[in-house]
Amino acid sequence: MKSIEWIGGKVRFIDQTKLPTDEIFVETDDVAILADAIRALKVRGAPALGIAAAYGVILGTQHFHSENSQELYEALQQSASLIAQTRPTAKNLFWALERMRSVCRLNLHESVERIKQILLDEALRIHAEDAQMCAAIGKHGAALVPDPATILTHCNTGALATGGEGTAQSIITTAFEQGKSISVYADETRPLLQGARLTAWELQKHGIQVTVITDNAAAMVMATKKIDLVVVGADRIAANGDTANKVGTYNVAIIAKEHGIPFYVAAPTSTFDIAIASGALIPIEERDPKEVSEGFGKRTVPEGVQVYSPAFDVTPHSYITAIVTERGILRPPFADSIRAVLQESSGHTV
Ligand code: MRU
Repeated sequence: MKSIEWIGGKVRFIDQTKLPTDEIFVETDDVAILADAIRALKVRGAPALGIAAAYGVILGTQHFHSENSQELYEALQQSASLIAQTRPTAKNLFWALERMRSVCRLNLHESVERIKQILLDEALRIHAEDAQMCAAIGKHGAALVPDPATILTHCNTGALATGGEGTAQSIITTAFEQGKSISVYADETRPLLQGARLTAWELQKHGIQVTVITDNAAAMVMATKKIDLVVVGADRIAANGDTANKVGTYNVAIIAKEHGIPFYVAAPTSTFDIAIASGALIPIEERDPKEVSEGFGKRTVPEGVQVYSPAFDVTPHSYITAIVTERGILRPPFADSIRAVLQESSGHTV
């Protein structure tokens, strides 16, 4: 299943807020509608946000009529800034916008029609590369999965969240496809239930044994159910390996460490932000309190009581056993292994 696609001048995506009960696809050629969909988590998951951002730039520029390439660049900047204001934490979104800006800048000497084609090619390349990165992460990470294996995961990191088969979830599905006997505990992931609604839906479709638990059952499950490993995704990884992911990930990491269970993070290199020295500098999105106080249409907090709803937390690198990327498995000290892998991918010193 493709969670997001470019089809003849439009972006088509599955509305993830309607899952698991309704499989509804939305098509739009309006960048403002796409930006609203990102804000509402209809399109979500760090790598998918990068892909959506790149397509958003195309939506914002494809009907531009002028022969002035500098004006086209200004139109691109406007759509990019609209998308940049949707969700602050996932590095992939900003990484993709920068790729689109940069390819436009490099080609300003070309005709407007030619630049538009170059931009579309770049957006499609970002999407295709993400699918390849998912496959490579799955292959590298599956080597970490014993047979049989019981795995705990948090949030959703599958095809819905990426341009391919997922990040952390690609490790699970690849190990399963290799013939390993896999069963998964999926944290429900309060407050928007990405684990219960989306991960369980995806794993069930794959035919993988999945059990949803409340987030607060994770310690109990790790203490009593012989969990072999925890694997999660990431929204932004700082230069020292500190990792922002869906709120609750940090709890899971602490519990895993207490029980001697390996805690793996899986992410493409587009999620790394080496300009940020540590997790303390990662911008953390705060969501509308109503998602907690009256989530899914039912009031559960008394009127007038304050709610604080960070969408992400930061797991300090000392809790992370390894980070699985498309280029291989990074081990501590992460400051060195991250620097080395990014040097290798960019071909120059970072
Ligand atoms: O708020 P969301 O649902 O976009 O958060 C998603 C996550 O935290 C995922 O774990 C992360 O983006 C990795 S997705 C491969």
